[in-house]
Amino acid sequence: MTNYSHVLSPTRIRGHFIKNRIVTGPSTIHSASNGELYPTEAAMLFFEKRAKAGVGIVTVAGVGTGPAADDGMHASWDLYQQNHTNALAELADRIHFYGAKASMELMGIFHDGYTVSDGAPLMNFEPGREIPIKEMERFKEWYANDAAILRDLGYDAVLLHFGHSIPVAQFLSPYTNKRKDQYGGSTENRCRYLIEILEAVRAKAGPNMIIEVRISGSEFINGGIDLAEGIRIGQLLQPHVDLLQVSAGMHNPKLMTVTHPCGFLPPTPNVFLAEEFKKSGQFYIPISTIGAIGNLQEADDIIASGKADFVTIARALIADIDMITKCREGRIDAVVPCIKCMHCHDSAVFGRHMRCAVNPSVGLEQHIERMIQPVKKQKKVAVIGGGPAGMKVL
Ligand SMILES: Cc1cc2nc3c(=O)[nH]c(=O)nc-3n(C[C@H](O)[C@H](O)[C@H](O)COP(=O)(O)O)c2cc1C
Ligand code: SF4
Repeated sequence: MTNYSHVLSPTRIRGHFIKNRIVTGPSTIHSASNGELYPTEAAMLFFEKRAKAGVGIVTVAGVGTGPAADDGMHASWDLYQQNHTNALAELADRIHFYGAKASMELMGIFHDGYTVSDGAPLMNFEPGREIPIKEMERFKEWYANDAAILRDLGYDAVLLHFGHSIPVAQFLSPYTNKRKDQYGGSTENRCRYLIEILEAVRAKAGPNMIIEVRISGSEFINGGIDLAEGIRIGQLLQPHVDLLQVSAGMHNPKLMTVTHPCGFLPPTPNVFLAEEFKKSGQFYIPISTIGAIGNLQEADDIIASGKADFVTIARALIADIDMITKCREGRIDAVVPCIKCMHCHDSAVFGRHMRCAVNPSVGLEQHIERMIQPVKKQKKVAVIGGGPAGMKVL
């Protein structure tokens, strides 16, 4: 039986013991976005289950930077009032209970319609207006305050989302950043504000907090960040970062199927980006890869071949929360594969109940025990004509 010894090998980051090389990709769920200012039981269970499933770092997604602001898509959890933060502290404890580390994503979406430059896209793809330096300073402070609060609530790590051309990430890209001041132009200038944020976070959150950063290794768009530029950006951010997640693409209708690889692409199509980061020989911090990693065999091959040091996985664990356990038990054939249809994303983001095309329990996790009770008296039954539903492996 394969023991997946590479991906399941423990390591340390900033002194924290990480039991394996698996990180969950941040996934906002419907119940995190219902307008509550704290995670509901459904949201808590969704993230707790990832810890129970055996991942090393559970990334909770994602909190808006600064006082709660509802961008209409992501959680509007409030970090600034104790009667809201109690639930976030409980969530960190529930993740720790299973030996996983708790990380929180800070989304980096500016308030009041600001983007890096006039015309750069907001999250709803409408054009935004250039954020003034005074507002940038305020936002930087919030990043630092948020990280310190999360540390006090028990979080081991923060994930700063500097990828996919979300508003703060737009500073990095020559495609979106048209600024004429010290924050636009050269690669150094485009990285300047994000480095200032990282320095502020470290100064306030202290030496023990793990800082993970997600960037797009390539934006896959003419005039945007290409792989060579992605590596240069990674190098400039590196002194301030403990774990660098190399993702891909932009928040753009045409590139969604690259950022969240669709089924028409080859398996694990974005791993080559992290591989090139590693091959450049420029990185002394661990590199994580993401994009359609479906099971422990794929994950183990990536780590064993040195293409990355960590794997980040979102949808494979939505499709089958028992994926890790099934692989560890030698039952890889029983893993229910993600078909990369994005129904989960679209149902969660566009204001409906989050569903998964292959996992009927998604979105109903908190009700499953009530809905499915073991029978009192066991019987032998034959399922006739059940179709795919009748054939589901549990
Ligand atoms: C339902 C869903 C919700 C997501 N929510 C977020 C989010 O809140 N923040 C974020 O940075 N990425 C989010 N993503 C993107 C994932 O973190 C990840 O980058 C993407 O799904 C590719 O990884 P995968 O192929 O392992 O799913 C979401 C993806 C899905 C499917
Ligand atoms: S809804 Fe589709 S893309 Fe999302 S996890 Fe399920 S199978 Fe994968």
